[in-house]
Amino acid sequence: MAKILAGKRIIFGVTGSIAAFKVAGWVSHLAKEEALVSVIMTESAQRFIAPLTFAALSGEKVYGAMFADDMSEPMAHIDLAQAASLLVIAPASAQTIARLAHGMADDLLSTTVLATRAPIIVCPAMNSKMYLHQATQENITKLRNFGYIVVDPDSGMMACKDDGPGRLVEWDSAQEIILRCLSDKPFLGKKILITAGPTREAIDPARFLSNRSSGKMGYALARAAYRGGADVTLVSGPTTLECPYGVERIEVETAEEMYSTVMEKSREASIIIKSAAVSDFRPTEIHTQKVKKDNIKTSLELQANPDILFELGQQADRNDKILVGFAAESANIEKEARKKLTRKNLDFIAVNNIKEEGSGFGVDTNKITLIDAEDTIHLPHTSKEETARLILESVATILKNKTR
Ligand code: C5P
Repeated sequence: MAKILAGKRIIFGVTGSIAAFKVAGWVSHLAKEEALVSVIMTESAQRFIAPLTFAALSGEKVYGAMFADDMSEPMAHIDLAQAASLLVIAPASAQTIARLAHGMADDLLSTTVLATRAPIIVCPAMNSKMYLHQATQENITKLRNFGYIVVDPDSGMMACKDDGPGRLVEWDSAQEIILRCLSDKPFLGKKILITAGPTREAIDPARFLSNRSSGKMGYALARAAYRGGADVTLVSGPTTLECPYGVERIEVETAEEMYSTVMEKSREASIIIKSAAVSDFRPTEIHTQKVKKDNIKTSLELQANPDILFELGQQADRNDKILVGFAAESANIEKEARKKLTRKNLDFIAVNNIKEEGSGFGVDTNKITLIDAEDTIHLPHTSKEETARLILESVATILKNKTR
């Protein structure tokens, strides 16, 4: 998660919903990432879960009543509001949403909300009928008009056995929203197109040609681009990975499908990162029925797939865009990458040695070298998450120089 959260003061409002127990895990994650978490609990939240739980997990004081009995902190709401980098309300009950929509200031959480100028994330959790009620929906619209980020709840079976929208969003999604809020956003208002994963080239309905790409690098780039404020489209070959939160994913199978999708989507994008491992060839003939073992030939006739990145480099609007390629090499790494940089007309290329341990296909780490017309930058051997962040830092520098 890099160190985006370290040292950031997050006010965490917990309200009266059965989902209150779930956010104990959220507070624990935030504290482990070294965020400074001040939990404020509404009175009804304290009926669902004890303040001590949050005190133990955050390692910080938990706030409840507006005024402490000993009057030691008469201005707690102002102090908390001013110190905050972010305010998260999860779970947000229908009651709290209604009170916030009307600007109520009758407890510590609602007064802190009014007094802060930090971004506010609201994660509703309630029975689906309550959530879908016009009153709640209108209150949510009001909160969105105030500029609060109201996260759509998940759908599914609720504690009350109703089935529908209203389940507290999962931590994986909430985490992405929090990270985006607290990150620098060099790509705000920019459309970034990223490709990921392998392609599959059918031989017959059962068999195909493919490669070892897991898609992990491209998905990490999509997450990092979303955090950086971008509007992200991810064109993905077959993978087992979940679509990152906030990202539009278009799933494709073959190189030709990837080609037509990328060409269409590239028109709107100002940054294109091609981390997919596209099959260079496809079988000339695709059998409509499974080929019987006895009839299989010992050689397969192949034809070349379009080189998507090369085509992008030749487009008339090439200079309006930033174009980044990837190369997986096993010998003469830098020399081969430099040839591709020039031939494909790229801003830079990210190359890795697939023979090196902990680098490239399938694993969670990578060791990448970034090569542009002038420089060679060796990134450290690190997680794909961190590698993605560093690659996007280079993209952000190019973007800054372009728009200067
Ligand atoms: O030439 P090579 O396949 O090594 O180049 C790799 C780069 O080109 C990657 O960025 C990959 O996504 C892209 N590529 C492509 N279309 C192909 C083959 C590769 O866009 N048919």
